[in-house]
Amino acid sequence: MSKVVRFGVSLDQELLEKFDRLAKERNYTCRSEAFRDLMRQELVQKQWQEGKEIAGAITLIYDHHKRELVNKLMDIQHDFGALIISSQHVHLDHRNCLEIIAFKGSPREAQKLGDSLKSVKGVKHGTLSMTTTGKDI
Ligand code: NI
Repeated sequence: MSKVVRFGVSLDQELLEKFDRLAKERNYTCRSEAFRDLMRQELVQKQWQEGKEIAGAITLIYDHHKRELVNKLMDIQHDFGALIISSQHVHLDHRNCLEIIAFKGSPREAQKLGDSLKSVKGVKHGTLSMTTTGKDI
């Protein structure tokens, strides 16, 4: 872990009050931790924009009774075999499935994978969680 430094920030009092309220609502125990998370969020976003190696997860909700849907989702995942680290399938109820796909690699490929899966007919909802490998952050 690198050295911890302190620094001063000048800003509008109203803005700080708003930030403190937000941090409290989100259960941060101190302002510094809330501020660190904001900074890291920006750094992660930059990693995605610059095409660095990133990590993340895709979630999909779909009805497995829809014809060909499961096969299409499988075909797409095989096309992105180098990107996908693991996947988990949960049978939510008689019809609905939740699939969680973890990935690590290129942001462009990850975005392409997410778009391809979410746009398959019959997928009810999909999310792409953009995070980091944890290196350089
Ligand atoms: Ni299922």
